Amino acid sequence: MSTVGNATNIFWQELPVGKLERQKLLNQKGCVVWITGLSGSGKSTLASSLSRELYTRGKLSYVLDGDNLRHGLNKDLGFKAEDRTENIRRVGEVAKLFADAGLICIASLISPYRKDRDACREMLPDNNFIEVYMNMPLELCEERDAKGLYKLARAGKIKGFTGIDDPYEPPLNCEMEINEKDGVCPTPGDMAGEVVSYLEEKGYLHDQ
Ligand SMILES: Nc1ncnc2c1ncn2[C@@H]1O[C@H](COP(=O)(O)OP(=O)(O)OP(=O)(O)O)[C@@H](O)[C@H]1O
Ligand SMILES: [Mg+2]
Repeated sequence: MSTVGNATNIFWQELPVGKLERQKLLNQKGCVVWITGLSGSGKSTLASSLSRELYTRGKLSYVLDGDNLRHGLNKDLGFKAEDRTENIRRVGEVAKLFADAGLICIASLISPYRKDRDACREMLPDNNFIEVYMNMPLELCEERDAKGLYKLARAGKIKGFTGIDDPYEPPLNCEMEINEKDGVCPTPGDMAGEVVSYLEEKGYLHDQ
């Protein structure tokens, strides 16, 4: 039985160095860039290209990629609805810590359920949650099928696959959407450029 939230006699320990001081050190503002979309929509590709671009500009980021986290932090979880919810909750909590550390935390996960993503947004103080929706057609993702998972899902060999027999709930009010333009997907560099421009415009790439 889960005991999360059940502990008693818990106090908050104040610590001497705060977020503002860490941000000053890094000359940037801590935030979470949450990339959501279907499998194969390009979340990890955008996360990789964005972190490289930020690094080139001297900005510290860290990628929390859904696949990688399932090797460690979330290796006890499967893909049923409650496990997906717990998966996202944990990543939201870790992302919140990274943002508090002053980093630009890039979370790339399918995160199919709106309420789970919204719960992560709620965790972040001061609206420092930038939801990026990879709005790519299912046909494109399925055609790419980089991991061969759509093929298995269509053959009924994987159950509860997002977009096939498990729902994907698109964001209603996300900060950014990456779309095809004239039927063509932007290059990874262009996608990253769009996000960097947003971060620049909103002041995240300087501490004040
Ligand atoms: N902008 C792009 N232009 C061309 N190919 C792309 C682009 N984005 C992603 N791809 C290709 O599509 C495939 C899937 O991309 P990626 O692995 O980033 O998807 P994902 O959303 O992370 O999927 P998953 O949820 O399964 O991890 C990869 O082979 C990648 O190289
Ligand atoms: Mg991925």
